[in-house]
Amino acid sequence: MKLAILSRAPRCYSTRRLREAAAARGHTVKVLDTLKFSIELRPRAPGLHFRGKRLSHYDAILPRIGASITYYGTALVRQFEQLDVYTPNSANGIANSRDKLRALQILSRHDLGIPPTSFVRRKEDVLPAIEHVGGAPVIIKLLEGTQGVGVILADSVKIAAAIIETLQSTKQNVLIQKFVGESAGRDIRAFVVGDRVVAAMRRVAQGGDFRSNVHRGGQAQAVELDPVFADTAVRSAQIMGLKVAGVDMLEGREGPQVMEVNSSPGLEGIEGATGLDVAGAIIDYMAGQVSFPELDIRQRLTVTAGYGVTELTIGESSNLVGQTLAESGLRSKDIVVLTLTREVNVISNPKSSRVLEPHDRLLCYGKLEHMRDLVPARRKGKPSKVRKLQPGAGSPAAATPEPAPPLEDLAP
Ligand SMILES: Nc1ncnc2c1ncn2[C@@H]1O[C@H](COP(=O)(O)OP(=O)(O)O)[C@@H](O)[C@H]1O
Ligand SMILES: [Mg+2]
Repeated sequence: MKLAILSRAPRCYSTRRLREAAAARGHTVKVLDTLKFSIELRPRAPGLHFRGKRLSHYDAILPRIGASITYYGTALVRQFEQLDVYTPNSANGIANSRDKLRALQILSRHDLGIPPTSFVRRKEDVLPAIEHVGGAPVIIKLLEGTQGVGVILADSVKIAAAIIETLQSTKQNVLIQKFVGESAGRDIRAFVVGDRVVAAMRRVAQGGDFRSNVHRGGQAQAVELDPVFADTAVRSAQIMGLKVAGVDMLEGREGPQVMEVNSSPGLEGIEGATGLDVAGAIIDYMAGQVSFPELDIRQRLTVTAGYGVTELTIGESSNLVGQTLAESGLRSKDIVVLTLTREVNVISNPKSSRVLEPHDRLLCYGKLEHMRDLVPARRKGKPSKVRKLQPGAGSPAAATPEPAPPLEDLAP
């Protein structure tokens, strides 16, 4: 495999180890500075230049995008996606995981433990939000902090409210999050590669700090991971669209609580604590996957006018209840069922013999017009005629009055 590691820090431990692991396995590997690319956009020909020269073909990239260059870095990864170059972490995955709010929003619809969290804007909503997540002590977090910077523990509601007000007055967005006290300065970092955890460590904060980040002096030790934690980590990474990820989980009373999913997790702490060749595991995984480039499924499935993806829910009294997928007639209406979600279980590519039950959710691809017919009337919406603006609607129109439209134009 010809591999490019996208990194601004060729000499840092993680980059060095990844390059060594790739070279030791006989791959061709280059470390390319993320900010030295230029992205070229032409019809039918997405292109890339590196240091002013056209980039030669690569089979795979491994993005190591730091928080300070998320925008450019994800734009670059997206460009490689357009060129069908394999990446274990998609541009969307990196962008979604980088923002702690966005990541928790995406995770929150799944059956995964996350600390109760609020995001509010109005001053009068701050106190109720603190109460909703469990009252003081409470965690206040900047959306894009790393290495423990921007994570604050406020002992009282008064202090919390003052901190939030101060941060908001400087235009910073903050999360209000339950302080998972029983985890007491400890957390679990699970290193996910593909669909398994290849290494895991427990980090313990030092000197009375509640933050266990290795960069804050947290001491790391290898752990034999409880299967529930391993499963939570793998599913979180999968949901975020990341095949290489460091998943941070608190050890809550009710099990793992995912705090964040890191798309460029450091290797030094985890390899040091576990003595495992994590870099090698990443390279081996990529070499096995290189013929399956990451693709933006939505982008690819919505290119034909009139076709799209939607989720249909089987109602209690739907006549589809009790029918198999084959009997449902969906296929003959040009609708393909991609997944079936029953309670919290997702069945991929459900068989035609699968019998439908009330509340099943079908992720479908097909003709929007036919799918619309299957949605209960309340949610149905045929495209309506675009009406003419009434004079006086919006100030510019009012300034230049137009003759009133004939009545029939306004009739439904
Ligand atoms: N809700 C919480 N309850 C208890 N401890 C927390 C909570 N959120 C974060 N921490 C502690 O702070 C550390 C940093 O938080 P995290 O959300 O991972 O941000 P960062 O991106 O800075 O690592 C965690 O590793 C954990 O030790
Ligand atoms: Mg963290």
